[in-house]
Amino acid sequence: MVDLDALRQKHPEIRDDFTIDQHWERYGVEEHGVWKTLFKRQMEVLPRRACAEFLEGVQKLGLEPDHIPQFERASDTLEKLTGWRVVAVPSLVPDDNFFTHLAARRFPVGQFIRRPDQLDYIEEPDVFHDFFGHVPMLAHPVFADYMEAYGKGGLRALTQFNALKNLARLYWYTVEFGLIAKPEGLRIFGSGIVSSRAESIYALESPSPNRIFFDLERVMRTEYRIDDFQESYFVISSFEALMEETYKDFGALYKRLATGPSYRPGDILPSDHVHTSGTHTYVGGSHAAA
Ligand code: PHE
Ligand code: FE
Repeated sequence: MVDLDALRQKHPEIRDDFTIDQHWERYGVEEHGVWKTLFKRQMEVLPRRACAEFLEGVQKLGLEPDHIPQFERASDTLEKLTGWRVVAVPSLVPDDNFFTHLAARRFPVGQFIRRPDQLDYIEEPDVFHDFFGHVPMLAHPVFADYMEAYGKGGLRALTQFNALKNLARLYWYTVEFGLIAKPEGLRIFGSGIVSSRAESIYALESPSPNRIFFDLERVMRTEYRIDDFQESYFVISSFEALMEETYKDFGALYKRLATGPSYRPGDILPSDHVHTSGTHTYVGGSHAAA
């Protein structure tokens, strides 16, 4: 449980909505250097791996490789595109607070950046994961609407349906770890993947994980692991299709989900539609399917 009073010890200026000022002027050379290193290596692996919508978002936001973005400036750009802004937070915020921000088109971004010895893994999302991973997709109009709808749905799941566990799986397997099938092959849009070099390669090119076409109820019944690469990814066909699937009322679905099976992260079900071709298009024609 996140305790505001405890956080006040470290961040006396924290507001009731858990936001703080970014204090961009306080980042040091080493902190900007971590951003620069991470940005550079992701921009090396992401062309032809991340979906065009993500890469266009990076362009549209005018993200600069050399330093941590200034939230106010980036928000002014983003707001003109889709009405979203980013706000600085010290660390993870409580669920209800997170959903309230999303529902108002505000994306909470961790103010701090990982240390140079933590380039590949951190437990708590920092500005690189939150900003680089999440914000470019918010420049896409349909995804922007999806995130707002998720925030509103989160408040409903929390207050009316006690179904947060199920809804959080949808977030995990789309916003954080989603893949999308494009005519040119599978592409990444999930922030947890695009902010990790090793998983950006693994998610598309490793023969190990399952890549299963998105099915809402299947996803909401599937547990996830937070401490290793995913054993299964879910593949959407388009952002419009994802929006259409999720925009309907989840009331009846939540009732159904209260009973029945849940699945382990690596399970494959007879009803699954597994994506088998095109995962290796990046390396190009290495398997002889014709
Ligand atoms: N349709 C969901 C509900 O009825 C809300 C939602 C929309 C959740 C989009 C996630 C994404 O609560
Ligand atoms: Fe995230």
